Amino acid sequence: MKKYLVIGNPIEHSLSPLIHNYWIKKYGLTESIYEKREVEEKNLKNIVKEIRDDKLIGVNVTVPFKKLIIPFLDKLDSTAKKTESVNTLFKVKNKIVGYNTDKLGFDLTMRELLPNVNNNLASTTSQKKNIFIIGAGGVTSSIVDALENKGANIFLSNRTKKKAEELKKKYTEIEVLDWGKRPQICDVVINTTSIGLKKGEKINIDFSDCRGDQNKLFYDLIYNPKETTFLQEARLRGNNTMNGQKMFLNQAVYAFNLWTNITPEIDDEVIRLLN
Ligand code: ATR
Repeated sequence: MKKYLVIGNPIEHSLSPLIHNYWIKKYGLTESIYEKREVEEKNLKNIVKEIRDDKLIGVNVTVPFKKLIIPFLDKLDSTAKKTESVNTLFKVKNKIVGYNTDKLGFDLTMRELLPNVNNNLASTTSQKKNIFIIGAGGVTSSIVDALENKGANIFLSNRTKKKAEELKKKYTEIEVLDWGKRPQICDVVINTTSIGLKKGEKINIDFSDCRGDQNKLFYDLIYNPKETTFLQEARLRGNNTMNGQKMFLNQAVYAFNLWTNITPEIDDEVIRLLN
């Protein structure tokens, strides 16, 4: 039996087993299974050993271990190295390699769903897009990395300002704003915090001047619940909104492909499973 796993703490909410097991079945990998396991930091070393011993074939890593897992690995792909964030583990030529497929997932999502924004980002016109990122947690470096050198102005605000300033050391084009502040003009606003995971949680930043503007995109990395208060308020203001479902699926596509060499399809059924 080939065993795959997602580890995190908490892990209850993870929908990764649902989609990976769907693809395992769809592509006839009958001897495979994908499970979730709640682990403590002290268990990380052992998880890596299980991969070394072929007891586990592939592992996804989620909050709060994406950075903490790094010291136990033999090698990182270039994105994982730069972002210091690993979400996928796999043994290659007897080395346990940490990959970051979050960045790829976000990148692809922006390309697929927002070709205009992406084109504009890539353009050299003086009309630079203003992208406002809220939060500086584990996943934020993947988002910043995907947006880097795309010709946009990137603003970042985090409750703990020090964490935003840490990111700026690596991604110098970021402009750090005090918590609660925002850039005057926001073309895209991305929530990377965990605010909204619990129903009714609210980000206290005033976007009322964006009312009726369909060209503004409010993007939440959270996909469960499907519509956070942040997105609901944006929708009611008449702004464009998107949740993190596509990015979640896209990062899973890349992970599945690393492990199996199959590029799984994001079909209606897999989307239905998430809904
Ligand atoms: P980690 O920082 O361990 O990677 P995370 O869940 O990936 O954890 O990130 C949590 C993010 O949500 C952080 O940006 C966090 O802000 P702090 O760095 O100040 O902790 C943010 N966050 C969570 N709850 C918040 C709240 N009630 N108000 C403001 N920011 C919050």
